[in-house]
Amino acid sequence: MASEAELRKRNTPKSTKADLKSDEKEQKPKAKVDAEGSRAQESAFSSTAFIVLAVLVAAAVLVYLNPAVVTETVSEFFGFEWDAAPVESTRAGFVADVEKRDAVKAAFRHAWLAYERDAMGDDEYHPISHEGTNLTEAGGIGYTVVDSIDTMLIMGLQDEYERARQWVAEKLTFEQDANFNTFETTIRVLGGLLSAYALTNDSLYLDKAVDLGDRIMPAFDTPARLPTSMVNLAKRQGVRAEDNKGLVSTAEISTLQLEFRYLAYLTDNDEYWDAVENVMRTIRSSSLTTGLASIFMNPEDGRFVLSAIRLGSRGDSYYEYLLKQYLQTNLTENVYQEMYNGAMDGVHGHLIKKGQYSGMTYTSELIPERNPRGEIQWRLMPKQDHLVCFFGGSLMLGAVTSGAVRHPVSIPPRPSELTPRGKRDWQTGVELIETCVQTHDTATGLAPEIVHFRIPSDNVVGSGVPQDWYIKGAEPWAPAPYDARYILRPETVESLFIAYRLTGDDKYRRYGWKIFQAIETHCRIESGGYASIINVDQVPVVHEDKMETFLMSETLKYLYLLFEDDSVLPLSEWVFNTEAHPLPIINAGRKANF
Ligand SMILES: *[C@@H]1O[C@H](CO)[C@@H](O)[C@H](O)[C@H]1NC(C)=O
Ligand SMILES: *[C@@H]1O[C@H](CO)[C@@H](O)[C@H](O)[C@H]1NC(C)=O
Ligand SMILES: *[C@@H]1O[C@H](CO)[C@@H](O)[C@H](O)[C@H]1NC(C)=O
Repeated sequence: MASEAELRKRNTPKSTKADLKSDEKEQKPKAKVDAEGSRAQESAFSSTAFIVLAVLVAAAVLVYLNPAVVTETVSEFFGFEWDAAPVESTRAGFVADVEKRDAVKAAFRHAWLAYERDAMGDDEYHPISHEGTNLTEAGGIGYTVVDSIDTMLIMGLQDEYERARQWVAEKLTFEQDANFNTFETTIRVLGGLLSAYALTNDSLYLDKAVDLGDRIMPAFDTPARLPTSMVNLAKRQGVRAEDNKGLVSTAEISTLQLEFRYLAYLTDNDEYWDAVENVMRTIRSSSLTTGLASIFMNPEDGRFVLSAIRLGSRGDSYYEYLLKQYLQTNLTENVYQEMYNGAMDGVHGHLIKKGQYSGMTYTSELIPERNPRGEIQWRLMPKQDHLVCFFGGSLMLGAVTSGAVRHPVSIPPRPSELTPRGKRDWQTGVELIETCVQTHDTATGLAPEIVHFRIPSDNVVGSGVPQDWYIKGAEPWAPAPYDARYILRPETVESLFIAYRLTGDDKYRRYGWKIFQAIETHCRIESGGYASIINVDQVPVVHEDKMETFLMSETLKYLYLLFEDDSVLPLSEWVFNTEAHPLPIINAGRKANF
């Protein structure tokens, strides 16, 4: 057991949502090529684009010659005959699976009550040592409490909710003289407060949200008006991160928009709105012709910096929020639909791949590298973070909104209700969810943090080599690599929840129930709380002494909603921020003017 405390010291990730350890390993070579800027990137891209175009043309010719190919695969994934069954109702009206829903609720109480007993008010919780810690020495900012409040409201946990509210009223203060991550603080704490307000109309939460929002706003004071990655909440000052040469992550600067826009809507203060809309304007004006975005930008000149392109860490929620910004303002801001369409075309052109042997659909990363002649080339890396698993559900949600020819569509949508893009995205989304579910095919039934898919040049040899995917560096005799862990992440169950709401297909509830049971079996700590595990392929498991806040804000919330009646938080009225905090769709009466 002593080893568990050691593990915690070594492994506690700081900014888990956006920062993967293996990400850091990649930083160094990238930084060297930073100076080239995005022009080189663009020209390197055009050669890739040309090849992709050629492939597309070839594919189109094939489809033209044999149209049955497409219809066949598409209807297979829809699971019903194209336009055969008339669906009159646009609401499935699925009923709750009360027993499973309440089992998830009991799990939430098991997590919360342990935290409350051992660490109430501390930012983070360590369920094995029964202690809490704060993000900084200055003191906590309600990271866990505020992140959990809306889940209690949704689950109807009145007593727990009252105590959490009392803590916010009496103890929560943002007057902390230390640097906090701008993005994490916005999605978890500001998002949590705004969602609690939306669900209660209790002015306590709005007052706190305004106070926090005002303290974060100075982060936008950079030459290009892109927010710094850190902010000192007491001094009200943006702070550049020392790592990454003061560059900012694309996902981090483009995942503040739902929160600040809703704050502007509630307060009639346009400054919040302008600050985050400006970021989107800058991204749009510097974006690449492919619609894809590299994971770093320079806050000095507002340009993309040559760096990896991916749907995983530092890239993920850029794509998520393109869609959700369009949804939040009730499909009125066409600029976000345009950006989203461009991005999805780029993703399909460059990042979506099929397993060489298994045919599984997965997402790849593009890594810029210099060849011996000093030219930049993009290497395709068949690596998929667990973080990417939000994307299947996101694609399906995009298909029935941005990709629909009428609103609302049936459940599930009929092909005639979707545009060609909508059909493409729906199908890819359905396939990606299957892939993410298959990555749970491990000794524990839990998915690893990062998987690699087989490609012919991967040199993975030996007996028992998998045909489809593997955990890089995992050897029976060696310590588990970083990639092998499961840290209670929500992304797969998030997609399952969305897919269930949009299809009514019971298989998504079955998948979710299996994942929930695996969490119960392997992550639950008897004395209270849940812990991460360091190797999904090892039973009995070795725990890491940490319960991430997103267990209570996201993983258990999405599982609960998967089994709940669909009149609770309908997707036609609510949009979930990237930390699963629901915010209402608004009629703001203003539109982006760029
Ligand atoms: C965390 O911060 C809060 C608020 O400042 C403080 O009350 C608490 O004692 C701190 N906890 C730890 C473990 O330092
Ligand atoms: C909050 O107030 C708004 C506007 O008056 C209202 O539409 C909404 O139903 C209220 N929500 C709750 C939970 O009371
Ligand atoms: C969103 O738009 C639809 C259709 O135009 C409308 O019926 C609905 O009331 C709008 N929602 C809000 C919150 O404005």
